[in-house]
Amino acid sequence: MQERKLQGQRNLHPHLDKFRKLCGGKKSYFAAAVCIITLTSMVTISYLRLQRLSLLPKIIQEGSKCRGEIANNTITALRGNKTFIIAPYFDDRESKVTRVIGIVHHEDVKELYCWFCCQPHGQIYVSKSKIDVHSDRFGFPYGAADIVCLEPQNCDPTYVSIHWSPHGNIDQLPRFEIKNRKAETFSVDFTVCISAMFGNYNNVLQFIQSVEMYKILGVQKVVIYKNSCSQLMEKVLKFYMEEGTVEIIPWPINSHLKVSSKWHFTQDGTHIGYYGQITALNDCVYRNMQRSKFVVLNDADEIILPLKHPDWKTMMSSLQEQNPGTGVFLFENHIFPETISTHTFNISSWNTVPGINILQHVHREPDRKEVINPKKMIIDPRQVVQTSVHSVLRAYGNSVSVPVDVALIYHCRMPLQGNLPRESLIRDTTLWRYNSSLIMNVNKVLYQTVL
Ligand SMILES: *[C@@H]1O[C@H](CO)[C@@H](O)[C@H](O)[C@H]1NC(C)=O
Ligand SMILES: *[C@@H]1O[C@H](CO)[C@@H](O)[C@H](O)[C@H]1NC(C)=O
Ligand SMILES: *[C@@H]1O[C@H](CO)[C@@H](O)[C@H](O)[C@H]1NC(C)=O
Ligand SMILES: *[C@@H]1O[C@H](CO)[C@@H](O)[C@H](O)[C@H]1NC(C)=O
Repeated sequence: MQERKLQGQRNLHPHLDKFRKLCGGKKSYFAAAVCIITLTSMVTISYLRLQRLSLLPKIIQEGSKCRGEIANNTITALRGNKTFIIAPYFDDRESKVTRVIGIVHHEDVKELYCWFCCQPHGQIYVSKSKIDVHSDRFGFPYGAADIVCLEPQNCDPTYVSIHWSPHGNIDQLPRFEIKNRKAETFSVDFTVCISAMFGNYNNVLQFIQSVEMYKILGVQKVVIYKNSCSQLMEKVLKFYMEEGTVEIIPWPINSHLKVSSKWHFTQDGTHIGYYGQITALNDCVYRNMQRSKFVVLNDADEIILPLKHPDWKTMMSSLQEQNPGTGVFLFENHIFPETISTHTFNISSWNTVPGINILQHVHREPDRKEVINPKKMIIDPRQVVQTSVHSVLRAYGNSVSVPVDVALIYHCRMPLQGNLPRESLIRDTTLWRYNSSLIMNVNKVLYQTVL
Protein backbone atom coordinates (compact mmCIF):
# COMPACT_ATOMS: atom_id res chain seq x y z
CA MET A 1 0.00 0.00 0.00
CA GLN A 2 2.72 2.41 1.16
CA GLU A 3 4.94 1.40 -1.69
CA ARG A 4 2.29 1.86 -4.34
CA LYS A 5 1.55 5.31 -3.02
CA LEU A 6 5.23 6.21 -3.14
CA GLN A 7 5.54 4.95 -6.64
CA GLY A 8 2.53 6.98 -7.62
CA GLN A 9 4.16 10.07 -6.21
CA ARG A 10 7.34 9.35 -8.05
CA ASN A 11 5.44 8.87 -11.29
CA LEU A 12 3.66 12.11 -10.72
CA HIS A 13 6.93 13.93 -10.18
CA PRO A 14 8.23 14.39 -13.71
CA HIS A 15 4.88 15.80 -14.81
CA LEU A 16 4.75 18.17 -11.90
CA ASP A 17 8.25 19.26 -12.67
CA LYS A 18 7.34 20.03 -16.22
CA PHE A 19 4.37 21.99 -15.02
CA ARG A 20 6.41 23.93 -12.51
CA LYS A 21 8.87 24.84 -15.17
CA LEU A 22 6.19 25.80 -17.63
CA CYS A 23 3.69 27.44 -15.31
CA GLY A 24 5.74 28.65 -12.40
CA GLY A 25 8.46 30.37 -14.35
CA LYS A 26 7.90 33.81 -15.84
CA LYS A 27 9.19 32.68 -19.21
CA SER A 28 6.56 34.20 -21.41
CA TYR A 29 2.91 34.74 -22.00
CA PHE A 30 3.10 31.94 -24.55
CA ALA A 31 4.12 29.47 -21.86
CA ALA A 32 1.30 30.68 -19.65
CA ALA A 33 -1.18 30.23 -22.45
CA VAL A 34 0.11 26.73 -23.21
CA CYS A 35 -0.10 25.93 -19.54
CA ILE A 36 -3.71 27.08 -19.21
CA ILE A 37 -4.75 25.28 -22.37
CA THR A 38 -3.07 22.05 -21.25
CA LEU A 39 -4.65 22.17 -17.82
CA THR A 40 -8.06 22.99 -19.25
CA SER A 41 -7.94 20.22 -21.79
CA MET A 42 -6.73 17.72 -19.15
CA VAL A 43 -9.66 18.62 -16.93
CA THR A 44 -12.07 18.53 -19.88
CA ILE A 45 -10.84 15.16 -21.11
CA SER A 46 -11.15 13.55 -17.70
CA TYR A 47 -14.59 15.16 -17.26
CA LEU A 48 -15.73 13.83 -20.65
CA ARG A 49 -14.36 10.39 -19.79
CA LEU A 50 -16.22 10.40 -16.51
CA GLN A 51 -19.37 11.53 -18.26
CA ARG A 52 -19.10 8.84 -20.90
CA LEU A 53 -18.50 6.33 -18.14
CA SER A 54 -21.73 7.44 -16.47
CA LEU A 55 -23.57 6.86 -19.76
CA LEU A 56 -22.29 3.28 -20.18
CA PRO A 57 -24.89 0.58 -19.66
CA LYS A 58 -24.66 -1.20 -16.31
CA ILE A 59 -26.01 -4.62 -15.42
CA ILE A 60 -28.44 -4.25 -12.57
CA GLN A 61 -30.12 -7.65 -12.51
CA GLU A 62 -29.72 -11.15 -13.94
CA GLY A 63 -32.23 -13.81 -14.85
CA SER A 64 -35.12 -11.52 -15.61
CA LYS A 65 -38.00 -12.70 -17.77
CA CYS A 66 -38.10 -9.55 -19.94
CA ARG A 67 -41.87 -9.54 -19.88
CA GLY A 68 -43.08 -5.96 -19.59
CA GLU A 69 -46.11 -5.27 -21.74
CA ILE A 70 -45.34 -4.37 -25.36
CA ALA A 71 -46.54 -0.88 -26.24
CA ASN A 72 -48.31 -0.81 -29.61
CA ASN A 73 -49.53 2.77 -29.89
CA THR A 74 -47.76 5.44 -31.94
CA ILE A 75 -47.72 7.79 -28.95
CA THR A 76 -47.25 6.39 -25.45
CA ALA A 77 -47.30 8.67 -22.40
CA LEU A 78 -44.89 7.86 -19.60
CA ARG A 79 -46.07 8.40 -16.03
CA GLY A 80 -46.64 12.08 -15.33
CA ASN A 81 -47.39 13.03 -18.95
CA LYS A 82 -44.16 14.96 -19.43
CA THR A 83 -42.55 12.40 -21.76
CA PHE A 84 -44.16 10.73 -24.76
CA ILE A 85 -42.50 7.90 -26.61
CA ILE A 86 -43.01 7.55 -30.36
CA ALA A 87 -40.47 4.83 -31.25
CA PRO A 88 -36.92 3.64 -30.59
CA TYR A 89 -34.53 3.12 -33.51
CA PHE A 90 -31.18 1.38 -33.60
CA ASP A 91 -28.51 3.77 -34.87
CA ASP A 92 -24.85 2.78 -35.26
CA ARG A 93 -23.71 5.62 -37.49
CA GLU A 94 -21.59 7.11 -34.68
CA SER A 95 -21.66 4.55 -31.89
CA LYS A 96 -23.96 1.69 -30.98
CA VAL A 97 -27.02 3.49 -29.62
CA THR A 98 -30.76 3.27 -29.31
CA ARG A 99 -32.27 6.57 -30.41
CA VAL A 100 -35.77 7.04 -29.09
CA ILE A 101 -37.88 9.61 -30.95
CA GLY A 102 -40.14 11.27 -28.42
CA ILE A 103 -41.79 14.42 -27.17
CA VAL A 104 -40.71 15.94 -23.86
CA HIS A 105 -41.42 18.98 -21.74
CA HIS A 106 -38.26 20.97 -22.39
CA GLU A 107 -37.66 21.92 -18.74
CA ASP A 108 -39.37 19.32 -16.62
CA VAL A 109 -37.75 16.21 -18.07
CA LYS A 110 -34.21 16.12 -16.76
CA GLU A 111 -33.28 12.45 -16.58
CA LEU A 112 -34.42 9.37 -18.44
CA TYR A 113 -32.96 5.86 -18.44
CA CYS A 114 -33.09 3.14 -21.05
CA TRP A 115 -33.73 -0.30 -19.64
CA PHE A 116 -32.50 -3.03 -21.94
CA CYS A 117 -33.32 -6.66 -21.35
CA CYS A 118 -30.80 -9.01 -22.96
CA GLN A 119 -31.89 -12.51 -23.95
CA PRO A 120 -31.34 -15.40 -23.45
CA HIS A 121 -29.99 -14.89 -19.92
CA GLY A 122 -32.25 -12.01 -19.02
CA GLN A 123 -29.59 -9.53 -17.93
CA ILE A 124 -31.03 -6.11 -17.41
CA TYR A 125 -28.84 -3.19 -18.39
CA VAL A 126 -29.65 0.38 -17.49
CA SER A 127 -28.15 3.27 -19.49
CA LYS A 128 -28.53 6.91 -18.68
CA SER A 129 -29.83 8.72 -21.75
CA LYS A 130 -28.75 11.93 -23.35
CA ILE A 131 -31.93 13.97 -23.83
CA ASP A 132 -31.56 16.15 -26.90
CA VAL A 133 -34.55 18.47 -27.27
CA HIS A 134 -34.56 19.74 -30.86
CA SER A 135 -33.71 23.42 -31.13
CA ASP A 136 -36.73 24.14 -33.37
CA ARG A 137 -39.34 24.31 -30.59
CA PHE A 138 -40.73 27.74 -31.58
CA GLY A 139 -41.53 28.71 -27.99
CA PHE A 140 -43.82 25.80 -27.12
CA PRO A 141 -43.17 24.02 -23.80
CA TYR A 142 -43.10 20.57 -25.45
CA GLY A 143 -40.84 19.66 -28.33
CA ALA A 144 -39.40 16.82 -30.36
CA ALA A 145 -36.56 15.05 -28.59
CA ASP A 146 -33.99 12.35 -29.21
CA ILE A 147 -33.51 10.21 -26.14
CA VAL A 148 -30.20 8.53 -26.92
CA CYS A 149 -28.76 5.59 -24.98
CA LEU A 150 -25.58 3.58 -25.43
CA GLU A 151 -26.50 -0.06 -25.93
CA PRO A 152 -24.81 -2.94 -24.10
CA GLN A 153 -21.73 -4.05 -26.08
CA ASN A 154 -22.42 -7.75 -25.96
CA CYS A 155 -26.08 -7.90 -26.86
CA ASP A 156 -28.46 -6.50 -29.45
CA PRO A 157 -31.62 -5.85 -27.48
CA THR A 158 -34.94 -6.11 -29.31
CA TYR A 159 -36.88 -4.05 -26.79
CA VAL A 160 -36.25 -1.07 -24.57
CA SER A 161 -38.18 0.50 -21.72
CA ILE A 162 -37.82 4.14 -20.77
CA HIS A 163 -38.00 5.20 -17.14
CA TRP A 164 -37.23 8.34 -15.13
CA SER A 165 -35.17 6.31 -12.63
CA PRO A 166 -32.36 3.72 -12.80
CA HIS A 167 -34.24 1.78 -10.09
CA GLY A 168 -37.52 -0.05 -10.24
CA ASN A 169 -39.14 -3.16 -11.69
CA ILE A 170 -38.78 -3.57 -15.44
CA ASP A 171 -41.72 -5.97 -15.63
CA GLN A 172 -44.02 -3.07 -14.81
CA LEU A 173 -42.70 -0.79 -17.56
CA PRO A 174 -44.03 -0.78 -21.12
CA ARG A 175 -41.54 -2.17 -23.65
CA PHE A 176 -40.92 -0.65 -27.07
CA GLU A 177 -39.57 -2.57 -30.02
CA ILE A 178 -36.25 -1.18 -31.31
CA LYS A 179 -36.69 -0.74 -35.07
CA ASN A 180 -34.00 -0.73 -37.79
CA ARG A 181 -32.01 -3.42 -35.99
CA LYS A 182 -31.41 -5.53 -39.06
CA ALA A 183 -29.80 -4.09 -42.15
CA GLU A 184 -32.14 -4.20 -45.13
CA THR A 185 -31.83 -3.38 -48.78
CA PHE A 186 -33.96 -0.57 -50.19
CA SER A 187 -37.40 -1.62 -51.20
CA VAL A 188 -38.37 1.78 -52.66
CA ASP A 189 -36.73 4.82 -54.23
CA PHE A 190 -39.00 7.57 -52.90
CA THR A 191 -41.19 7.82 -49.80
CA VAL A 192 -43.27 10.94 -49.20
CA CYS A 193 -43.91 11.84 -45.55
CA ILE A 194 -47.12 13.78 -44.88
CA SER A 195 -46.54 14.90 -41.34
CA ALA A 196 -50.02 15.65 -40.05
CA MET A 197 -53.46 15.18 -41.56
CA PHE A 198 -55.86 16.95 -39.20
CA GLY A 199 -58.97 19.09 -38.88
CA ASN A 200 -61.34 16.48 -40.37
CA TYR A 201 -59.37 16.71 -43.62
CA ASN A 202 -61.70 16.50 -46.63
CA ASN A 203 -59.74 17.93 -49.59
CA VAL A 204 -60.29 14.64 -51.40
CA LEU A 205 -59.74 15.68 -55.01
CA GLN A 206 -56.48 17.53 -54.33
CA PHE A 207 -55.22 14.65 -52.17
CA ILE A 208 -55.87 12.07 -54.90
CA GLN A 209 -54.25 14.32 -57.51
CA SER A 210 -51.19 14.83 -55.30
CA VAL A 211 -50.77 11.10 -54.66
CA GLU A 212 -51.20 10.31 -58.37
CA MET A 213 -48.65 13.00 -59.23
CA TYR A 214 -46.21 11.54 -56.68
CA LYS A 215 -46.69 8.12 -58.30
CA ILE A 216 -46.12 9.55 -61.79
CA LEU A 217 -42.93 11.21 -60.49
CA GLY A 218 -41.60 7.95 -59.05
CA VAL A 219 -42.98 7.53 -55.51
CA GLN A 220 -43.85 4.05 -54.26
CA LYS A 221 -44.84 4.94 -50.70
CA VAL A 222 -46.72 7.77 -48.98
CA VAL A 223 -46.63 7.77 -45.18
CA ILE A 224 -49.39 9.77 -43.51
CA TYR A 225 -49.46 10.72 -39.83
CA LYS A 226 -53.23 10.82 -39.48
CA ASN A 227 -54.91 12.81 -36.77
CA SER A 228 -58.37 13.22 -38.32
CA CYS A 229 -60.13 13.17 -41.67
CA SER A 230 -63.62 12.83 -43.17
CA GLN A 231 -65.45 9.55 -43.88
CA LEU A 232 -64.95 10.06 -47.61
CA MET A 233 -61.25 10.56 -47.08
CA GLU A 234 -61.12 7.35 -44.98
CA LYS A 235 -62.48 5.49 -47.99
CA VAL A 236 -59.74 6.93 -50.23
CA LEU A 237 -57.03 6.13 -47.68
CA LYS A 238 -58.30 2.56 -47.39
CA PHE A 239 -58.09 2.20 -51.17
CA TYR A 240 -54.49 3.44 -51.20
CA MET A 241 -53.52 1.20 -48.26
CA GLU A 242 -54.85 -1.83 -50.09
CA GLU A 243 -53.01 -0.71 -53.21
CA GLY A 244 -49.85 -0.59 -51.07
CA THR A 245 -49.12 3.08 -51.69
CA VAL A 246 -50.23 4.59 -48.40
CA GLU A 247 -49.11 3.70 -44.89
CA ILE A 248 -51.12 5.29 -42.10
CA ILE A 249 -49.49 6.11 -38.79
CA PRO A 250 -52.22 6.99 -36.28
CA TRP A 251 -51.33 10.34 -34.70
CA PRO A 252 -53.72 11.04 -31.81
CA ILE A 253 -51.51 13.76 -30.37
CA ASN A 254 -54.46 15.85 -29.20
CA SER A 255 -55.53 13.15 -26.75
CA HIS A 256 -52.23 13.71 -24.93
CA LEU A 257 -51.39 17.39 -25.38
CA LYS A 258 -53.11 20.66 -26.24
CA VAL A 259 -52.04 21.16 -29.84
CA SER A 260 -51.74 24.41 -31.69
CA SER A 261 -52.64 24.60 -35.37
CA LYS A 262 -49.95 27.27 -35.68
CA TRP A 263 -46.25 26.58 -35.95
CA HIS A 264 -45.14 29.16 -33.36
CA PHE A 265 -46.26 29.72 -29.76
CA THR A 266 -48.76 32.53 -29.19
CA GLN A 267 -49.16 32.38 -25.37
CA ASP A 268 -52.49 30.58 -25.78
CA GLY A 269 -51.84 27.74 -23.34
CA THR A 270 -51.12 25.17 -26.04
CA HIS A 271 -48.32 22.64 -25.55
CA ILE A 272 -46.91 21.84 -28.97
CA GLY A 273 -46.96 23.37 -32.44
CA TYR A 274 -48.74 22.29 -35.61
CA TYR A 275 -49.97 18.93 -34.36
CA GLY A 276 -46.48 17.80 -33.43
CA GLN A 277 -45.37 18.00 -37.07
CA ILE A 278 -41.65 18.06 -36.34
CA THR A 279 -41.79 14.90 -34.23
CA ALA A 280 -43.76 13.12 -36.95
CA LEU A 281 -41.21 14.17 -39.61
CA ASN A 282 -38.31 12.87 -37.55
CA ASP A 283 -40.09 9.59 -36.91
CA CYS A 284 -40.76 9.30 -40.64
CA VAL A 285 -37.08 9.82 -41.48
CA TYR A 286 -35.99 7.00 -39.14
CA ARG A 287 -38.91 4.73 -40.01
CA ASN A 288 -37.84 4.85 -43.67
CA MET A 289 -34.08 5.04 -43.21
CA GLN A 290 -33.46 1.49 -44.34
CA ARG A 291 -36.22 0.92 -46.80
CA SER A 292 -36.23 4.10 -48.90
CA LYS A 293 -33.41 5.57 -50.94
CA PHE A 294 -34.91 9.06 -50.57
CA VAL A 295 -37.45 10.57 -48.20
CA VAL A 296 -39.53 13.57 -49.31
CA LEU A 297 -40.76 15.89 -46.56
CA ASN A 298 -43.70 17.93 -47.83
CA ASP A 299 -47.41 18.58 -47.24
CA ALA A 300 -50.29 17.00 -49.15
CA ASP A 301 -50.93 20.23 -51.08
CA GLU A 302 -47.33 20.43 -52.31
CA ILE A 303 -45.75 18.74 -55.32
CA ILE A 304 -42.08 19.09 -56.30
CA LEU A 305 -42.29 19.61 -60.07
CA PRO A 306 -39.13 18.89 -62.08
CA LEU A 307 -38.65 21.24 -65.04
CA LYS A 308 -35.70 19.62 -66.80
CA HIS A 309 -36.38 15.96 -66.05
CA PRO A 310 -39.43 13.77 -66.59
CA ASP A 311 -39.38 12.38 -63.02
CA TRP A 312 -37.66 12.54 -59.64
CA LYS A 313 -35.38 9.58 -60.27
CA THR A 314 -33.60 11.15 -63.22
CA MET A 315 -33.64 14.54 -61.49
CA MET A 316 -32.08 13.13 -58.31
CA SER A 317 -29.36 11.18 -60.12
CA SER A 318 -28.40 14.34 -61.95
CA LEU A 319 -28.48 16.43 -58.74
CA GLN A 320 -26.43 13.83 -56.87
CA GLU A 321 -23.87 13.70 -59.64
CA GLN A 322 -23.51 17.49 -59.58
CA ASN A 323 -23.40 17.67 -55.77
CA PRO A 324 -21.29 14.85 -54.39
CA GLY A 325 -21.49 14.46 -50.61
CA THR A 326 -24.91 16.09 -50.46
CA GLY A 327 -27.70 14.42 -48.49
CA VAL A 328 -30.27 17.22 -48.37
CA PHE A 329 -31.87 18.86 -51.41
CA LEU A 330 -33.97 21.98 -50.81
CA PHE A 331 -36.77 23.01 -53.15
CA GLU A 332 -38.39 26.43 -53.25
CA ASN A 333 -42.08 26.81 -52.46
CA HIS A 334 -44.33 28.69 -54.91
CA ILE A 335 -47.96 29.51 -54.25
CA PHE A 336 -50.56 28.78 -56.93
CA PRO A 337 -53.67 30.42 -55.42
CA GLU A 338 -56.84 28.34 -55.46
CA THR A 339 -58.70 31.61 -56.05
CA ILE A 340 -57.31 32.06 -59.58
CA SER A 341 -58.84 29.47 -61.94
CA THR A 342 -58.31 28.48 -65.55
CA HIS A 343 -61.12 26.48 -67.10
CA THR A 344 -59.15 24.24 -69.43
CA PHE A 345 -59.48 21.06 -67.39
CA ASN A 346 -63.03 21.41 -66.08
CA ILE A 347 -63.88 17.71 -65.83
CA SER A 348 -67.58 17.46 -65.07
CA SER A 349 -67.51 14.17 -63.13
CA TRP A 350 -64.93 15.65 -60.74
CA ASN A 351 -67.18 18.55 -59.76
CA THR A 352 -69.07 16.43 -57.22
CA VAL A 353 -65.87 15.44 -55.40
CA PRO A 354 -64.94 17.74 -52.49
CA GLY A 355 -61.62 19.52 -52.86
CA ILE A 356 -59.52 21.45 -55.33
CA ASN A 357 -58.84 20.43 -58.93
CA ILE A 358 -55.21 21.49 -59.21
CA LEU A 359 -55.23 21.32 -63.04
CA GLN A 360 -57.32 24.50 -62.94
CA HIS A 361 -54.74 26.49 -60.97
CA VAL A 362 -51.73 27.32 -63.10
CA HIS A 363 -50.92 30.87 -62.03
CA ARG A 364 -48.27 31.41 -59.42
CA GLU A 365 -47.57 34.37 -57.20
CA PRO A 366 -44.42 36.36 -58.02
CA ASP A 367 -41.52 36.44 -55.54
CA ARG A 368 -41.63 39.22 -52.99
CA LYS A 369 -38.54 41.33 -52.49
CA GLU A 370 -38.45 41.09 -48.71
CA VAL A 371 -39.61 37.48 -48.39
CA ILE A 372 -37.49 34.35 -48.77
CA ASN A 373 -39.58 31.49 -50.16
CA PRO A 374 -39.68 28.62 -47.68
CA LYS A 375 -38.22 25.31 -48.80
CA LYS A 376 -39.11 21.66 -48.52
CA MET A 377 -36.73 18.74 -48.85
CA ILE A 378 -35.78 15.53 -50.54
CA ILE A 379 -33.24 13.82 -48.26
CA ASP A 380 -31.08 10.76 -48.10
CA PRO A 381 -32.36 9.63 -44.67
CA ARG A 382 -29.10 7.85 -43.79
CA GLN A 383 -27.32 11.19 -43.87
CA VAL A 384 -29.77 12.97 -41.56
CA VAL A 385 -29.77 12.96 -37.75
CA GLN A 386 -32.40 15.59 -36.92
CA THR A 387 -34.78 17.39 -39.22
CA SER A 388 -36.99 20.43 -39.00
CA VAL A 389 -39.64 21.43 -41.55
CA HIS A 390 -37.71 23.68 -43.93
CA SER A 391 -34.15 22.51 -43.24
CA VAL A 392 -32.31 19.78 -41.37
CA LEU A 393 -30.85 20.53 -37.93
CA ARG A 394 -28.14 17.85 -37.94
CA ALA A 395 -26.82 15.86 -40.87
CA TYR A 396 -23.64 14.14 -42.06
CA GLY A 397 -23.94 15.33 -45.65
CA ASN A 398 -24.28 18.83 -47.09
CA SER A 399 -27.49 20.68 -47.94
CA VAL A 400 -27.94 22.22 -51.36
CA SER A 401 -30.62 24.56 -52.74
CA VAL A 402 -31.99 23.32 -56.04
CA PRO A 403 -32.32 26.18 -58.57
CA VAL A 404 -35.90 27.04 -59.60
CA ASP A 405 -35.14 26.27 -63.22
CA VAL A 406 -34.51 22.65 -62.19
CA ALA A 407 -37.57 22.19 -59.97
CA LEU A 408 -40.02 24.12 -57.84
CA ILE A 409 -42.77 23.25 -55.41
CA TYR A 410 -46.25 23.57 -56.85
CA HIS A 411 -48.27 24.59 -53.78
CA CYS A 412 -51.98 25.11 -54.42
CA ARG A 413 -53.71 26.83 -51.49
CA MET A 414 -55.19 30.15 -50.33
CA PRO A 415 -53.17 33.08 -51.70
CA LEU A 416 -50.48 34.82 -49.69
CA GLN A 417 -50.67 37.89 -51.94
CA GLY A 418 -54.47 37.94 -52.24
CA ASN A 419 -54.69 41.51 -53.45
CA LEU A 420 -52.73 40.85 -56.63
CA PRO A 421 -54.86 40.82 -59.83
CA ARG A 422 -54.64 37.81 -62.15
CA GLU A 423 -52.41 39.76 -64.58
CA SER A 424 -49.71 40.15 -61.93
CA LEU A 425 -49.39 36.40 -61.49
CA ILE A 426 -47.11 34.19 -63.58
CA ARG A 427 -48.83 31.64 -65.80
CA ASP A 428 -46.96 28.37 -65.27
CA THR A 429 -48.47 25.28 -66.89
CA THR A 430 -45.70 22.82 -65.98
CA LEU A 431 -48.31 20.64 -64.25
CA TRP A 432 -50.19 20.26 -67.54
CA ARG A 433 -47.33 18.23 -69.00
CA TYR A 434 -48.72 15.36 -66.97
CA ASN A 435 -52.39 16.03 -67.79
CA SER A 436 -53.29 12.89 -69.70
CA SER A 437 -51.78 10.33 -67.32
CA LEU A 438 -52.90 12.35 -64.29
CA ILE A 439 -56.54 12.54 -65.47
CA MET A 440 -56.60 8.85 -66.38
CA ASN A 441 -55.11 7.76 -63.03
CA VAL A 442 -57.31 10.06 -60.95
CA ASN A 443 -60.40 8.77 -62.76
CA LYS A 444 -59.44 5.17 -61.96
CA VAL A 445 -59.19 5.98 -58.25
CA LEU A 446 -62.36 8.09 -58.17
CA TYR A 447 -64.45 5.37 -59.80
CA GLN A 448 -63.20 2.81 -57.29
CA THR A 449 -63.76 5.02 -54.28
CA VAL A 450 -66.03 8.04 -54.18
CA LEU A 451 -67.91 8.03 -57.54
C1 LIG B 1 -49.32 -5.30 -28.19
O1 LIG B 1 -49.33 -6.35 -29.14
C2 LIG B 1 -48.79 -7.56 -28.63
C3 LIG B 1 -48.72 -8.56 -29.78
O2 LIG B 1 -49.72 -8.33 -30.71
C4 LIG B 1 -49.61 -8.05 -27.45
O3 LIG B 1 -49.06 -9.24 -26.94
C5 LIG B 1 -49.63 -6.99 -26.37
O4 LIG B 1 -50.45 -7.35 -25.31
C6 LIG B 1 -50.12 -5.64 -26.93
N1 LIG B 1 -49.95 -4.62 -25.94
C7 LIG B 1 -50.92 -3.83 -25.50
C8 LIG B 1 -50.55 -2.79 -24.49
O5 LIG B 1 -52.07 -3.93 -25.88
C1 LIG C 1 -52.08 12.01 -17.96
O1 LIG C 1 -53.04 12.28 -18.98
C2 LIG C 1 -54.16 11.42 -18.94
C3 LIG C 1 -55.08 11.77 -20.08
O2 LIG C 1 -54.38 11.96 -21.24
C4 LIG C 1 -54.90 11.58 -17.59
O3 LIG C 1 -55.95 10.66 -17.51
C5 LIG C 1 -53.91 11.33 -16.45
O4 LIG C 1 -54.55 11.63 -15.23
C6 LIG C 1 -52.68 12.21 -16.60
N1 LIG C 1 -51.73 11.85 -15.56
C7 LIG C 1 -51.05 12.75 -14.85
C8 LIG C 1 -50.12 12.21 -13.82
O5 LIG C 1 -51.14 13.93 -15.05
C1 LIG D 1 -67.08 23.76 -64.92
O1 LIG D 1 -68.12 23.49 -65.84
C2 LIG D 1 -69.42 23.54 -65.28
C3 LIG D 1 -70.42 23.18 -66.36
O2 LIG D 1 -70.02 22.05 -67.04
C4 LIG D 1 -69.67 24.93 -64.74
O3 LIG D 1 -70.95 24.98 -64.12
C5 LIG D 1 -68.61 25.32 -63.73
O4 LIG D 1 -68.76 26.66 -63.31
C6 LIG D 1 -67.24 25.15 -64.33
N1 LIG D 1 -66.27 25.36 -63.27
C7 LIG D 1 -65.09 25.87 -63.44
C8 LIG D 1 -64.24 26.08 -62.23
O5 LIG D 1 -64.66 26.13 -64.53
C1 LIG E 1 -51.93 17.34 -72.22
O1 LIG E 1 -50.92 16.35 -72.44
C2 LIG E 1 -50.71 16.02 -73.78
C3 LIG E 1 -49.63 14.94 -73.85
O2 LIG E 1 -49.90 13.91 -72.95
C4 LIG E 1 -50.26 17.18 -74.58
O3 LIG E 1 -50.13 16.84 -75.95
C5 LIG E 1 -51.25 18.33 -74.42
O4 LIG E 1 -50.74 19.48 -75.03
C6 LIG E 1 -51.51 18.61 -72.95
N1 LIG E 1 -52.55 19.61 -72.81
C7 LIG E 1 -52.31 20.84 -72.41
C8 LIG E 1 -53.49 21.77 -72.36
O5 LIG E 1 -51.22 21.22 -72.04
